[in-house]
Order: sequence, then C-alpha cells, then structure tokens
Amino acid sequence: MADIKLTVLFGTETGNSEKLAKQVVAEAEKRSYATVLKPLGPMSPADLANTGLTLVVISTWGEGDPPSSAEKFCKAIYEAKSPDLSTTTLYTVLALGDKTYADYCGCGRKVDESITRMGGVKMMPRQDLDVDFDADFKVWKDKFFSRIEALAT
Ligand SMILES: Cc1cc2nc3c(=O)[nH]c(=O)nc-3n(C[C@H](O)[C@H](O)[C@H](O)COP(=O)(O)O)c2cc1C
Repeated sequence: MADIKLTVLFGTETGNSEKLAKQVVAEAEKRSYATVLKPLGPMSPADLANTGLTLVVISTWGEGDPPSSAEKFCKAIYEAKSPDLSTTTLYTVLALGDKTYADYCGCGRKVDESITRMGGVKMMPRQDLDVDFDADFKVWKDKFFSRIEALAT
C-alpha cells in the first residue's frame, strides 16, 4: 500500500485533536502510507485542492465556534465557493466536542458541510466524538483504515 498518500489536518485548542491526528498518522505510517500532518491554522480553503485523501480532525469551542488556532481557516471555508474539489479531494471529518453543549461538534459539522459544498467527495460519514472518546476513536480508526484499504483495491 506504499502508493497511498494520506493528509491529516487538525484544528485544536487544548491538544486532543492534534493527539488523535498523530495517532492516525502513526497507524498510516505502520501501513507504509505516505503521510502529511498539518495544522489548519496557516491553510486556506484553496489548499484543499492539493491534499488528496484527507482527514480533518477538529474540535468545537465557545458556542459552536472553531478552536482559535483554526478560526481564520474556518471563517474562510464557511463562505468559500471555490475551488471545485470534486476531482481532487476525497475526505472525511473527525469532529471533537462535548454533548453537554447545545451545538455539539458544530465546528466539525460546518467544516464538513463546507467541504461538501465545494464538491469534496466524502470517503465515509463524519464521526463526532464526545469528551470520553478513547473507545469510539478506536472503533472509528479501524473503520477508517478498512475504508481506505477497500478504496485502494
Ligand atoms: C469553554 C469550552 C467551550 C466548548 N464549546 C463546545 C461546543 O460548543 N460544542 C462542543 O461540541 N464542544 C465544546 N467544547 C468541548 C471541546 O470541543 C472538547 O473538550 C474537545 O475534546 C477539545 O478538543 P481540542 O483539545 O482538540 O481543542 C467546549 C469546551 C470548552 C472548555
């Protein structure tokens, strides 16, 4: 599977999303994929035309708001209408949040909706993770890699 390239992008306030993003990259490297790990902070929506197979891991803060490190990217992508990502970007979103908040995983949901609106093709549905995410993350991670391997065969 050395010809699979996976880009993992993260937006975090207190490190959870970055930690899970790194765990996905570690597993991908075990499987000999080429990997890219990047914070969303310095990116623009147009950069998603170059990320190919893409996982976005992002938390929600305030009342459905982005983590501050990814605020600029999120504000831009909520409004973005171009580029057309339909032939370039196969993606999914791992959204971190807390069910006690009214807008549970609101930022991840809005990023997901934005990439879909730009034509990005979803490789699997978004996964929302509550605060106690270890077990659900493990289950999701197995599904994620099974899906990639199914796409690659
Ligand atoms: C002040 C504060 C506001 C938050 N607001 C929301 C929210 O609106 N919706 C939600 O689903 N989670 C919310 N959360 C939960 C975080 O998204 C959750 O703790 C997440 O795991 C943090 O991930 P990070 O370390 O990658 O930023 C909030 C947490 C705090 C402390």
